[in-house]
Amino acid sequence: MLSHLLHLQGIESVVLETRSQQAVESTIRAGVLEQGTVDLLNQTGLGARLAREGAKHQGIRLAFDGEQHRIDLTELTDREITVYAQHEVLKDLIAARQAAQGQLLFEVEQVSLQQLESARPQIHYRHLDEDHIISCDFVIGCDGFHGICRAAMPGGLRKDYTRVYPFGWFGILVEAPPSCDELIYARHARGFALVSTRSAQVQRMYFQCDPQEKVEDWSDDRIWHELETRLENRNGWSLKQGKIFQKNVVGMRSFVTEPMRYKRLLLAGDAAHIVPPTGAKGLNLAMADVRLLAQALESLYRQGNWSHLDAYSEQALRRVWRAEHFSWWMTNMLHTQGESSSFQQRLQLSELQYMVKSRSAMTMLAENYVGLPF
Ligand code: DHB
Repeated sequence: MLSHLLHLQGIESVVLETRSQQAVESTIRAGVLEQGTVDLLNQTGLGARLAREGAKHQGIRLAFDGEQHRIDLTELTDREITVYAQHEVLKDLIAARQAAQGQLLFEVEQVSLQQLESARPQIHYRHLDEDHIISCDFVIGCDGFHGICRAAMPGGLRKDYTRVYPFGWFGILVEAPPSCDELIYARHARGFALVSTRSAQVQRMYFQCDPQEKVEDWSDDRIWHELETRLENRNGWSLKQGKIFQKNVVGMRSFVTEPMRYKRLLLAGDAAHIVPPTGAKGLNLAMADVRLLAQALESLYRQGNWSHLDAYSEQALRRVWRAEHFSWWMTNMLHTQGESSSFQQRLQLSELQYMVKSRSAMTMLAENYVGLPF
C-alpha cells in the first residue's frame, strides 16, 4: 500500500518480499476492513473489486448467557465495516503495482540493512541467485513482527511493551452459506467463539483454544460440537455446518515498540506493533501507519519539510495505543482464563450486560470497532 501511495505521488520505491507471490496471495488472515481503510482503497483507485465482492456490515452481535444482542454500528457511529479478506486486499495491491510496472520483488533472500547511520542507508539482498545492493533515502520496515528491520534498530534506543495471552484461536474455513448476516462475538464458559464470513459460499469461524493446540487433534465433529456448544442460544439461531477445508491455530500477543523510527529507518504495521485478533485491527493499523508515512514523505520531497516525518512515530503511536487498548479490552471481555477466576467470569458477564444496555458503552465499542477517523 505504501508503495502504491508513493507511486501516486511520483516517489520511487522498491518492495522486497521474502515469500513468493503465490504464498502472499493465499495466506489466510483476518477479513474486516474499517471504513477508513475502505475509503483509502477507494480514493487510490483500488476499490472496484472490493465494492463488488466485499460485504458491508452495519452491526455486530454480542452473544453471552444464551442470548444474542445486536450492536448497531452505523446507527451509533454513522460508519460501517466491510468484510473482505486480507489476502484479497493484497491481490488487488500487487496487481496495481505490477500494472504500473512497480518494482516488486518476491522470494528475496538474505536481506540485511547497512549504513543506517548515514544519509544513504543500504539494503543488501539476494534475488534470483544474484547479490544486490540498493542505496536509498529511507528504509521502511513493513516486514512484520519477525522481520529484520525492528531488530536493526539499536536496542538501547527502543522500548518494547509486550503481553502474551494464555490462549489462541482455532480458525476454520467452511463451505457453507452464512449462518448470520453479521459477525457474532460469543462469550461462553468454555471460551470465546466468533462466527465470521468470507462470501456467500465460504464462512470463517474461530474458537478460543490452547495456543499449543494441534489441528490434527481436532476432527470436524469435535470442532462442530465445540462451536455448537459455545454458540448455543435461546434466540432460535443455529450454526450452518459444511465442509471444513482449512484449519489453523493462531497465538495471541499484544506488542508495541517505541519509537517507530531510527534515523532513516521507519517501521510500519506488525514490524512495530501486534494486536490480538479480537476486533480485527491489525491490517487497519498498518494502513493507518502507511497513510501517515506517505503524507510525511510527500511533504518532505515536495517542500523539503521534515516536520511530518519527525512527528510520524508519535502520531502513529497515538492510534496504535488506542487500538492496543481496544483489542486487549475486547479480548479480556470475551475470553475465559481457567477456573482460577470465577470472580473474573462474573465481572465479564456484568460488563457484557452493560455493553448491550448502555448506549454510551455501546458507542464506545462501536467507535473503536469501526475505527476512529484516520
Ligand atoms: C475476523 C477476524 C477477526 O479477528 C475479527 O475480529 C473478526 C473477523 C475474520 O477473519 O473474519
